[in-house]
Amino acid sequence: MANETFLRACRKETVEHTPIWLMRQAGRYLKEYMEIRKKSSFLEMCKTPEIACEVTLQPLRRFELDAAIIFADILLPLEGMGVNFHFAKNEGPVIDRPIRENSQIDAIKIIDPYKDVPYLLEALKMTRAELNGKVPLLGFCGAPFTLASYMIEGGGSKNYLNTKKLMFSDPGAWKVLMDKVCAVLAVYLRAQIEAGAQAVQIFDSWVGCLGAADYEEYVLPYTKKVIDSVGGDVPVINFSTNTGPYIDLIARAGGDIVSVDWRMELDTAWERIGTDRAIQGNLDPGVLFGPPEFIKKRAAEVLKKAGGRPGHIFNLGHGIILGTPVDGVAALVDSVHELSSNK
Ligand code: CP3
Repeated sequence: MANETFLRACRKETVEHTPIWLMRQAGRYLKEYMEIRKKSSFLEMCKTPEIACEVTLQPLRRFELDAAIIFADILLPLEGMGVNFHFAKNEGPVIDRPIRENSQIDAIKIIDPYKDVPYLLEALKMTRAELNGKVPLLGFCGAPFTLASYMIEGGGSKNYLNTKKLMFSDPGAWKVLMDKVCAVLAVYLRAQIEAGAQAVQIFDSWVGCLGAADYEEYVLPYTKKVIDSVGGDVPVINFSTNTGPYIDLIARAGGDIVSVDWRMELDTAWERIGTDRAIQGNLDPGVLFGPPEFIKKRAAEVLKKAGGRPGHIFNLGHGIILGTPVDGVAALVDSVHELSSNK
């Protein structure tokens, strides 16, 4: 039976239960994922549509999730931009030549998704067909800041000093870089939507390293440009973490749904975002390491803060953490459905 609860909640329609999906719902906490991962690298998995499709569907076989998210990565567009990277063992992504010179910014190419990430588009088509309407399929991309920060830092970072250095000391170069990243993300999202993505999430995972005024000046206009480029065709989720102190500015960048983390109460966040918008969140992913009855209690608290208002999509405040117990995920999904139905 078709389950459109997620898309209806995105549009702030009333729903029979609060929809739930989880960031990083596919991955290493599942043994069936690890079976495949043993034989292929993460990037090989992303680049093989049959595998990406299979891994996208794995969590849906275990849990009654209300949406699927395509198995991919925010860094996939980099290759076509001419910024090569690899995943180092237990280290996460490593950019071969981090962007530190203006000439490197000038050399960045605007991708053609049909030539540069055909495997992703094929995986979306295949997964959409395979889902056959069971639940909606999400596409995604990194937000301009988070993607640029990887390109500049060369990987994850504690203080984002190379990024801030460029931003503060050469605003002209920052603008050129961000404009290019925006142009890439616009075509990247558009192609995903054409390939079958029914909603998209923009991940600004690391933008919380900035203060409010710097977010407003150096980031907001670019994130807004990417969101505007989707042009209202499908719902857009504007995701960030650690941005509670300026969640109103995050909301100003756009998005039909604003995703919030657990550092702020959901009701307070919703007031500041504006209750005319939908909201996603916001359980601490660490809660899934607690016992089932604790998970249920915490899920109930989030639902209480949402107050049964239309437009709440249940999610974690950030992705599932490596080592998360499968039973914890099951307890959460079942609790959210049970506690929120027949409201
Ligand atoms: O949500 C989903 O299930 C869809 C798949 C998905 C992945 N990455 C798969 C993945 C999504 C939505 C992402 C987004 C992503 N990728 C983000 C934003 C989300 C967030 O967590 O803030 C970021 C920052 C990245 C970049 C990235 N990719 C990092 C930092 C890492 C290494 C960290 C880690 O957990 O090992 C990856 C690798 C990655 N992306 C894995 C998966 C399943 C692990 C690959 C493996 O070794 O099996």
